[in-house]
Amino acid sequence: MDQNLIFHGTVIHSRNPAEISIFKNTLLIISTDGRISTLRKDTNKSLVPTILAGLKASGEPTYLDRGHFIIPGFIDTHNHAPQWAQRGLGQSMHILDWLDEVTFPNEARFRDPDYARRIYSSCIEGFLKQGITTASYYGSMHAEATRILADLCLEKGQRAFVGKCNMSRNSPDYYRDATVQSSLQDTRDCIDHIRNIDPESTLLKHVLTPRFAIACEAELLRGLGDIANENPDLPIQTHFNEAEQEINLTKTLFSQFENEADLYEHYGLLTRRSILAHCCFMTEYEMGRLKELDCGVSHCPISNMTVGGGFMASPIRDFLRRGIKVGLGTDSGGGFSSSILDAMRQALIASNAREVMSKGKDKGLSIAEVFYLATLGGARVCCLDDKIGSFEEGKEFDALVINTASSGIMTMVEDDDPIRTIFDKFIMTGDDRNIEKVYVRGRSVKS
Ligand code: GUN
Ligand code: FE
Repeated sequence: MDQNLIFHGTVIHSRNPAEISIFKNTLLIISTDGRISTLRKDTNKSLVPTILAGLKASGEPTYLDRGHFIIPGFIDTHNHAPQWAQRGLGQSMHILDWLDEVTFPNEARFRDPDYARRIYSSCIEGFLKQGITTASYYGSMHAEATRILADLCLEKGQRAFVGKCNMSRNSPDYYRDATVQSSLQDTRDCIDHIRNIDPESTLLKHVLTPRFAIACEAELLRGLGDIANENPDLPIQTHFNEAEQEINLTKTLFSQFENEADLYEHYGLLTRRSILAHCCFMTEYEMGRLKELDCGVSHCPISNMTVGGGFMASPIRDFLRRGIKVGLGTDSGGGFSSSILDAMRQALIASNAREVMSKGKDKGLSIAEVFYLATLGGARVCCLDDKIGSFEEGKEFDALVINTASSGIMTMVEDDDPIRTIFDKFIMTGDDRNIEKVYVRGRSVKS
């Protein structure tokens, strides 16, 4: 950017699950390197030109009128880029059957780089359009397709974790890493590639991605743990205690461990950089391990209750109560929707089911809480909360400009609606048509 990006209007963010902060008449100035250089609340619109002149800011201010506001970009802590073209398929199937029948045949197509480029372009643009400024992506098992995914994220300006998926067993011959050694070598090549194209990690990191223990021999998990240990900057992601079918087979394959926490910890894969998708079935012991090891949970309320998952309302309230880091995942395409707004709504629904299941002990979530999960909560899970997730001077500007008056199906805004009412209407009924602009590091990225 050769000029400052400047806004004046309402800015909304969350600094903790309990509250939403709404700042009216706020002046935001974004420096040419994409950081928030000025955040000045309660600033009269008429004073903006004088302030900008005093700060020697270049660029025309955008004045947001009533019905418009700025929120942090959404963070999708778990999804599968190669499942973009299978969203909505295989509903209500159990996880291992769904993988065999729907997912593996689909993901195998990413051996073709042209196919990968076409689907990944659509996927990234689709996520950006829906305001997902940061995504933690599972790639397919193919190194080349994974490098293409990383190239495209950088080109299109999405902040992303991109992981070559490791899977050397319990998958079909046509879709499986040839050997443990080739799986690890492909991973190293993808790590190098991402470091080459984005040396400062401005947007990208490789994320170590053992598909789940069922698909990995002990030697592969150990090798990935060694890479994690040698590269403490790299995040790690896997599927964790997702469904009974999965948990039972894992116990058979790794009978020396009583639970998945002990298993993944043993191989060096549970650290503060771990992103554990699902976590539907959690014992007191495993809750304690996740808290102790400071692992993050990716709550995927759509897939948890539609595909693969245990058709289970996971213990989200318990994670929050214990101070375990937690964010939202679309888990698209296990999740039929790639919209974080949909994930927020389903998180509310699932939490209400959990309230009933727990006989009132685990209270349902509030809109403030799901908004936190979709923004700063996700940033914490990704260990990016020093950079993004909320608005503070010095943080990078990953943000959405919301227009609640745009045509669409959002609940109509009345003249006397307070801003918090307008916000709630957007969260519960808005969609990508209300997401007018999307910025990552100050760059406009919604095509
Ligand atoms: N477990 C292993 N692979 C997958 C996957 O692709 N989706 C989900 N939801 N669970 C998994
Ligand atoms: Fe998943």
